[in-house]
Amino acid sequence: MDAGEQRVLSGMQPSGVLHLGNWQGALVNWVQLQDRYRCFFMVADWHALTTLYQHTEELPALTREMVIDWLAAGLDPERSVIFPQSWVSQHAELALLLGMVTPLGWLERVPSYKEKLKELAQREIHSYGFLGYPVLQTADIALYRARWVPVGLDQVPHLELSREVVRRFNGLYPRARLVEPEPLLTEAKVLPGLDGRKMSKSYGNTLSLRETPEAVRSKVATMVTDPARVRRRDPGHPEVCPVFALHRVFSAPATVAEVEEGCRGATLGCVDCKALLSGAINQALDPIRERRDYWSRHAQTVGEILHHGATQARKEAEATMQGVREAMALDPMRLMSETQPSVGG
Ligand code: TRP
Ligand code: SF4
Repeated sequence: MDAGEQRVLSGMQPSGVLHLGNWQGALVNWVQLQDRYRCFFMVADWHALTTLYQHTEELPALTREMVIDWLAAGLDPERSVIFPQSWVSQHAELALLLGMVTPLGWLERVPSYKEKLKELAQREIHSYGFLGYPVLQTADIALYRARWVPVGLDQVPHLELSREVVRRFNGLYPRARLVEPEPLLTEAKVLPGLDGRKMSKSYGNTLSLRETPEAVRSKVATMVTDPARVRRRDPGHPEVCPVFALHRVFSAPATVAEVEEGCRGATLGCVDCKALLSGAINQALDPIRERRDYWSRHAQTVGEILHHGATQARKEAEATMQGVREAMALDPMRLMSETQPSVGG
């Protein structure tokens, strides 16, 4: 590792085609991080098993589609290491070792654990793997000696747990010297979906990165607006309107100002306002569509990118594991060089 090199690791569960919320909420930031850090971007397919273990046959397509969208959004395989977690078995090894020193109580206290458990109660996910989700996530980060983890606010408790686990591990095995990760907080952009709730696949309110221009127009046309604006001449309140929230993300500042004024003064109707928004979204999506078409036609290259990424990842991960095994007296060399019989006799 270069002196002074700063590393970032982040991951996403393979969810297939991404939507505007994933793009603006995470990917835009990932793309920018590539200029300043050595980045590792991981498809968290083992994490996906916590809820998807009955449908593993879906994983290859979900992974492929998501990685195509990563590349379309501007992740650069020349600069960043892009790989599926399951191709680097060291993740499992380190997760097992970290699990040995992680008190159950710490895991049960993670807020997202309790919430998800309720949310997905019918789906039989109350498993050992599900409880251990944050331990595996800690391994993901520690393997690459990544100091920085770009996360949204909701993920901060996970990272806090990662820090505690790493600290405890280093306390027990000081020679391991795992890097304590820190959240790299960015102004988390949460996009509203078509219905005004947070854009999320589970709400069915998304605009995907693969919408055709016509689909963008017709879906935006169905968006909820300021409920107080019943008639065209009623003044609106852009601050409560999800259409306006998307304007702020996708439209030029001058357009945002015009829309705001036109809405408050009832000089701009919602239909026209939405047409402006569709235009802005389509313009933002055009370069993505182009790159996505390219990568869709080069599926084999996408596979090669992942192979190459996994090879690089494995090298880094194995270097970390050698240090960990040594620090825990689990390395073969230690056993061979032991001269005094310490057991039996
Ligand atoms: N839990 C993350 C998600 O939202 C995915 C993930 C797995 C991750 N390992 C990670 C994120 C390590 C950051 C760092 O799907
Ligand atoms: Fe929303 Fe635009 Fe209608 Fe105002 S004019 S309520 S911002 S859609």
